[in-house]
Amino acid sequence: MIKSNETLTFKRGLTLKNRFMMSPMTTKMSFFDGTVTNDEVNYYALRSGEIGAVITGAANVQDNGKGWDGELSVADDKFIPGLAKLAAGIKKNGTKAILQIFHAGRMTDSGVLHGTQPVSASAIAAERDNAETPRAMENSEITELIENFKKATKRAIEAGFDGVELHGANTYIIQQFFSPHSNRRTDQWGGNLDKRYKFINDLVDGVTKVVDESGVKNFIVGYRLSPEEYENPGISIEDTMFLVDKLADKPLDYLHLSENDYKRVSVSDSYKNKTILEYVHDRINGRMPLIGVGGVTTKEDSEAILNSGELIAVGGQMLLDPHFVGKILSGHDDSVRHTLSLFDTDELMISNGALAFLEQKMPEKIIK
Ligand SMILES: Cc1cc2nc3c(=O)[nH]c(=O)nc-3n(C[C@H](O)[C@H](O)[C@H](O)COP(=O)(O)O)c2cc1C
Repeated sequence: MIKSNETLTFKRGLTLKNRFMMSPMTTKMSFFDGTVTNDEVNYYALRSGEIGAVITGAANVQDNGKGWDGELSVADDKFIPGLAKLAAGIKKNGTKAILQIFHAGRMTDSGVLHGTQPVSASAIAAERDNAETPRAMENSEITELIENFKKATKRAIEAGFDGVELHGANTYIIQQFFSPHSNRRTDQWGGNLDKRYKFINDLVDGVTKVVDESGVKNFIVGYRLSPEEYENPGISIEDTMFLVDKLADKPLDYLHLSENDYKRVSVSDSYKNKTILEYVHDRINGRMPLIGVGGVTTKEDSEAILNSGELIAVGGQMLLDPHFVGKILSGHDDSVRHTLSLFDTDELMISNGALAFLEQKMPEKIIK
């Protein structure tokens, strides 16, 4: 059985000092244009030092990929100095810094984009209230988007990050190309499962090549995915098994299964015998480490994840207690903070944006 205090060395040579990572969580603290703020650096620094790695909240790789105000941007060289401060703030006492890179696709609106229509694989609105219908991307825009993910990766290297995570989860554009709901294309980028996978294939090949040709040492590339969509048509667990199998053969350093509950079981009758995390772990079959996430608030949860994954990501609990990992690893789990008083948000540097997410996700933990 793996222990949470054990180190892990990825294929590209980076070593984490323990098995804990901070799950990517947007702070909504960046400036209007996506420049890092000092508050944001301090918020991350407060949570660094004990944990193996911190994955930042999503950073958009091009302007029309911005999903919300206050989001990080890596869409231009002008953001590199701010991102360098952020990487340095995270890299205290050996914590590794990973930048999550993404494009929101149809999960944004023309308000956030200052009048520009959102884009996606196809002109199909998301099934959510007030969703705008996006514009289907031209072929040239798709290849440009992959180029912009590559440029973002180069900027992350230049800024001193230890890696990037491709945000292929939570219904944003990478997932939109794979989903039969959002991708109705009939060209080379859409159609059957193989064709809907083409964008991910080309993206992963492009980004990993950039890293390997850059000469940087110990810089990793991870990939985050969501296992199922509830829309019809939508990504099924069978589609996800296909994707995991493909990705596990790629030169990636890890896969990260995005879930709100690591114990979640599939909606499919054919996949009810184990948790989704276990099915995905079995499918990877040792080809690369898997990060499990969703509802980790205790030592017992983190140990349970290590039965079907190699790494534990902690989200909300790291907001409530920035020293969660230090307390768990030193045997002081009885002193972990499990609730948030609104009087504590300044001390914990929790922004209004992050608080709004928390209030939705874990209302029972907020003391008003
Ligand atoms: C405030 C907040 C912001 C989040 N932002 C992101 C994000 O930028 N990228 C992402 O992949 N997931 C994001 N998530 C999802 C988390 O990474 C995580 O998967 C989810 O909260 C479940 O883990 P937890 O139960 O430990 O919080 C966010 C979650 C929260 C609570």
